[in-house]
Amino acid sequence: MIEAGKRVYFTKCVWCHGVDGAGDGPAADRLWPRPRNFNQGTFKIRHTASGELPLFDAKKPIKGQNDLYETVTHGLPGSAMPSWEGILTDEQRLQVLSFVTNQLVKDRKFDDKATESQTVLNFDEVLKTQQEMR
Ligand code: HEC
Repeated sequence: MIEAGKRVYFTKCVWCHGVDGAGDGPAADRLWPRPRNFNQGTFKIRHTASGELPLFDAKKPIKGQNDLYETVTHGLPGSAMPSWEGILTDEQRLQVLSFVTNQLVKDRKFDDKATESQTVLNFDEVLKTQQEMR
């Protein structure tokens, strides 16, 4: 599953999200908001509390319980993140997310329940990059 997901990632996602998932692919510099840096494990769209990782279950794409799957299916309006519905099959979307959550989220374990301070830390970073862009 992870291997298959890796192949999907390196054909479809790498351009924006980067080889190591740091959000620094060749197209990234031209995009705002920038593509997500997966290494830090901070995600925007989730049903979980702020600072916690989003819901993802590689085995069941159930609406309302699988935040990452829904993001990849529908994309993020207002950003360059495309909708992959009809481009990647259900299975490929689950595969690529297995790869992302297992191999690219590095600074946190995907099953740990992080504290608020983690978000605040990363939030400062976001503000900093935003200021540098001006
Ligand atoms: C054309 C550029 C582009 C491509 C290609 C792309 N993304 Fe994204 N992606 C983005 C941008 C930009 C964001 C950040 C959007 C934002 O902050 O609102 C993002 C955000 C995300 C997020 C984070 C959602 C969240 O809750 O924070 C996930 C997960 C994601 N992308 C997965 C993928 C996967 C998997 C692929 C390949 C199938 C992919 N992306 C391909 C541009 C791209």
